[in-house]
Amino acid sequence: MNNNPIAVFDSGLGGLSVWKEIVRALPEESIMYYGDGANCPYGGKSQAEIIRLSEAIVRFLLDRGAKLIVVACNTATAGAISYLRAHYAVPFVGMEPAVKPAAEHSETGVIAILATAGTLKGKLFTETSQRFSAGVKILTRIGEGFVELIETGRANSTQAEEAVRRTVEPLLAQGVDRLVLGCTHYPFLAETLRRVIGDRPVELIDPAPAIARRVKEVLTERNELAEAGHLAKYDYFSSGDEAYRGRLQEYGEHLLLGIKEENEHGKK
Ligand code: DGL
Repeated sequence: MNNNPIAVFDSGLGGLSVWKEIVRALPEESIMYYGDGANCPYGGKSQAEIIRLSEAIVRFLLDRGAKLIVVACNTATAGAISYLRAHYAVPFVGMEPAVKPAAEHSETGVIAILATAGTLKGKLFTETSQRFSAGVKILTRIGEGFVELIETGRANSTQAEEAVRRTVEPLLAQGVDRLVLGCTHYPFLAETLRRVIGDRPVELIDPAPAIARRVKEVLTERNELAEAGHLAKYDYFSSGDEAYRGRLQEYGEHLLLGIKEENEHGKK
């Protein structure tokens, strides 16, 4: 048993989409969330820069007792997780675009991955997509401007709808029926995406629930789950200013309220 917190980090607030699934799966675990607001977005940064930024965050989180670190950022996973695993003993769980479930369930045989430039050019993604490319056609697309729209609270604006339409329509025109959200910010655009998709039979695939299951598995294997009945505490940290940190907390509390309501109404 270990009551120390799990840590979750991202370039900004996107990783809260993963954090939320961990809260759902492991309600007795305390969690520290770190959003690198001062350096967001990571998408176009060099690998060396991503390693430098991620390492500073990992040290910060280890100093505060993290027992497991979730790299809730596809770009940071692609650029830095091998380095982090080689240099720090704490267990890391990273993101991976959900190519497998999309490829296995596609009926049209055409799937698309939406992600940042850093993720799409990473070794992890290249290898995974090669593995599945014999069975399905895999299209890729950078969500241009998506992260900035989400970071500035405009996920449901007309600008967001235009950006999503510009990105997604050409994919749908090619017969895509599974759209993988390969950046942890993108689930915050789910409503806008669904509006643009309309009644076309396209499924959005978010790997976050699978990541939460993996966190549970790793803690169980290591016998490091929190004690039964442990009262979870949620802390929010950021390299940004206090206003940014406050926004992370506000988002987190809003998501917690959603979880509470779901639990009360017994629906997912
Ligand atoms: N949320 C991030 C990801 O999953 C990074 C977005 C960014 O900072 O560009 O890739």
